[in-house]
Amino acid sequence: MTERTLVLIKPDGVRRGLVGDIISRIERKGLTLAALELRQIDEDMAGRHYAEHQGKPFFPSLVEFITSGPLVAGVLEGPRAVAAFRQIAGGTDPVEKAAPGTIRADFALETQENLVHGSDSPESAEREIALWFPNLSD
Ligand code: CMP
Repeated sequence: MTERTLVLIKPDGVRRGLVGDIISRIERKGLTLAALELRQIDEDMAGRHYAEHQGKPFFPSLVEFITSGPLVAGVLEGPRAVAAFRQIAGGTDPVEKAAPGTIRADFALETQENLVHGSDSPESAEREIALWFPNLSD
């Protein structure tokens, strides 16, 4: 069954010129791009996207980071798209958790500046796609 997931290539990925490489990995995995857009978001949008992290110690610096420059937002489609993108992204901590060969393990050092975001469940994907791409939502 086809599923959708939201992907963000965060400002560190854009600054470092890794957008092409990351999209290439997504395409080689077999996921399809249903939307792709360069965006600069404000604090309000950052707070909505990361609502579940409000109140955590790293929240203020996460908002500062995610609003620090343009990012690439996209919607991926494919069988088990949520899990498939999380597999190629690797764990949140790029050194301790991400497996070798994943985007985060191969290109990142810090838990905050970890290059990509992917929805963590089909329910989160639905909420996040409605937030970022309202025209795509059912
Ligand atoms: P992401 O998958 O986008 O979801 C929440 C983000 O918060 C995460 O990736 C990291 O960028 C950041 N994050 C999560 N845990 C920490 C932490 N302990 N310290 C700093 N940033 C974190």
